[in-house]
Amino acid sequence: MDDASLTNRPDLSAYWMPFTANRQFKADPRLFVAARGLYYRTEDGREVLDATSGLWCVNAGHGRPEIAEAVQRQLMTLDYAPGFQMSHPGAFALATRIAELTPAGLDRVFFSNSGSEAVETAMKIAQAYHRARGEGQRTRFISRERAYHGVNYGGMSVGGLVNNRRTFTTLPGVDHLRHTHEPGRSAFSRGQPAQGAELADELERILALHGPDTIAAVIVEPVAGSGGVLPPPAGYLERLRSICDHHGLILIFDEVITGFGRLGTAFAAQYFGVTPDIITMAKGITNAAVPMGATAVKREIHDALMQGPANAVELFHGYTYSAHPVACAAALATLDIYERERLFENAAAMAPAFEAAVHGLRDRGPIVDIRNLGLMAAIDLAPRPGAPGARGYDALTRAYKAGLLIRVTGDTIALSPPLTIGEAQIADMAGMLGKVLETLE
Ligand SMILES: Cc1ncc(COP(=O)(O)O)c(C=O)c1O
Repeated sequence: MDDASLTNRPDLSAYWMPFTANRQFKADPRLFVAARGLYYRTEDGREVLDATSGLWCVNAGHGRPEIAEAVQRQLMTLDYAPGFQMSHPGAFALATRIAELTPAGLDRVFFSNSGSEAVETAMKIAQAYHRARGEGQRTRFISRERAYHGVNYGGMSVGGLVNNRRTFTTLPGVDHLRHTHEPGRSAFSRGQPAQGAELADELERILALHGPDTIAAVIVEPVAGSGGVLPPPAGYLERLRSICDHHGLILIFDEVITGFGRLGTAFAAQYFGVTPDIITMAKGITNAAVPMGATAVKREIHDALMQGPANAVELFHGYTYSAHPVACAAALATLDIYERERLFENAAAMAPAFEAAVHGLRDRGPIVDIRNLGLMAAIDLAPRPGAPGARGYDALTRAYKAGLLIRVTGDTIALSPPLTIGEAQIADMAGMLGKVLETLE
């Protein structure tokens, strides 16, 4: 790095970074200063190929002028409108567009500002729905180990990652299915593991323990993302759906990562042909240009809450920035890009090359498993004895220095490139990553 860029670097001490080893980072910072297409630029002027779409969110690639122009136009026209008892046209236009992308029937949309808030909203709607139908005793939630549903108290409580839970008080009335990662019989699966659909039957056991009529909803990521890219075993989601139907439970798909084309369809629900009752989304909804979350709900659920006198507020929930005009403008411009450039179709078309490239890395380093579906994949490194996470961190920093952004959780590398990626860039990504893996001692 030259002296000029060092001089431009701000003081790093005041900013308390999220999900980061702050002291380690500040001793060896990694700062991006610009981004365009598939590449970030670092403060020392290097290009870094974004193999993670930022945090699984920049699905259309970086620096899209259409989104920037829509945001600027919106800011100069209507910067903000209250969302309670007032609104603006963009909110309705966006909800309609989203309802066209969600599976048939999930056509009522509640807006928030993040994936975490979309999940809190879904949990509250599930409880409110049962209460409105006279089944207010249905308050419990069932989720899954290794799930990530955000970091607010509801999402954390249904989450299944111990580091996110151990320090904090979790909500009562939450139970967890076991996760679906079974390297013993499904290591190096390409796509959905063939084995493991019966893991869904554990839901029956948990229901019998609590009493099915006490359960409000089951919440799962169709493909667990942050917990390590765990595609569901073939037939697993279908079984969850049928058990939920049998017992009158709401099935929530948390599609904060899988929404907006990651698997080559608008939502994972369509990819798997399994329709949940509620879908949570965020991230790719605005191509991450402006924070936004949304919760799409089956019409029956929505309608069950539209009761009482017309002047009654039906759901005591919402945020100052629900359906923020600028977020709506960014989202509408983003959805236009997805449609015009057929990016979901491109994701589907690139998935085989991506799968081949990622599995082609199998012998390039200390690798114990590789998994993939659509444009998401994970590579599990064998932990270095006595130092879990150390190899993963080395992979992250060496990849960054080599010009590749990967995501690392512990010793698991996750890849989720923008849906704009082509075969040549997939090959570049795998080439750089292969070289990094070979250096991992
Ligand atoms: C499945 C899932 N749900 C919820 C969230 C939380 O989203 P946010 O970080 O926007 O609150 C995430 C974030 O990665 C996620 O992957």
